[in-house]
Amino acid sequence: MELGQKFWLNGEIADVDKDKISILTHTLHYGTGVFEGIRCFNIKGNLVAFRLKDHISRLFKSAEAYSIKMQYTQDQITEACKHVVKVNGSKDFYIRPLIYYGAGEMGVGSSKNPVDSAIVVWTWPSYLSKETEERGVKCMISSWMKIPNESLPQYAKGVANYANSRLAKLEATNNGYDESILLNKNGLVTECSGENIFMVKDGKITTPAVSVGILEGITRDSVISIAKKLGFSVTEGNITKDELLDADEAFLTGTAAGVHQISRIDDKDFQMNEASISNELKNFYFGIVSGEKTGFDSWLDKI
Ligand SMILES: Cc1ncc(COP(=O)(O)O)c(C=O)c1O
Repeated sequence: MELGQKFWLNGEIADVDKDKISILTHTLHYGTGVFEGIRCFNIKGNLVAFRLKDHISRLFKSAEAYSIKMQYTQDQITEACKHVVKVNGSKDFYIRPLIYYGAGEMGVGSSKNPVDSAIVVWTWPSYLSKETEERGVKCMISSWMKIPNESLPQYAKGVANYANSRLAKLEATNNGYDESILLNKNGLVTECSGENIFMVKDGKITTPAVSVGILEGITRDSVISIAKKLGFSVTEGNITKDELLDADEAFLTGTAAGVHQISRIDDKDFQMNEASISNELKNFYFGIVSGEKTGFDSWLDKI
């Protein structure tokens, strides 16, 4: 991971190593902030951000869920993301816009704190590690329950959700797994700590419905579109733990991770198969972001 040395803060470009944020930053104490994760790719000499407009639109939806008043328009944040990539040398960056309450008053309900907007970039060639991606992701069903929608809106990419994700991820890695799968209060499969999940049974693809309490992933949406284009049936519905363990294949999707087959869930092994549906969808997705598959220009925002 290589950090871009310049970042965007409230309309200005600043140096990452010189910036200091206040210890009274409200979000640091109370967890109310929203963010995005976007990737840009160098496709045959052209730098493009994958579904940038959709990510920015989700950022605004997340902010609205938390009644955070955005200080910039969607177009301004979109252009700022592109600008930060350019001032850092136009590489295949992971772009992280973060909207948070800055220093002002203390207290959970204080309303006078400024809404600060930052955009930072770094290179992140492989979120789950190359070895994990090649041998398939080993997942553990977490003992931590997914935060219910009734407690925090899971469709919003809110900072606080990641306290739940982090506990689940740590539990998985401490037990020799790569990722966690969280169940909701009804025992239904929701998602991983930082990715959506899919299963395949008898050639049919199923992924948890948004209503079970998940982030409506943009990679998830892209994979659903790809799968339908390839003629597969895709259902967004309820998946129990037993149904997941009984699946023929499973895979996960996310901006940071990409699309990767799952090789194990708890004690159940899944065969890594080049001819599997998971692998076909994975290759198609990476084909689009590497420029091998054409016809998806509307997903590629020029930087
Ligand atoms: C909890 C969670 N679920 C799903 C995803 C996948 O979403 P996307 O494909 O938009 O990156 C992410 C990553 O942002 C995530 O953090």
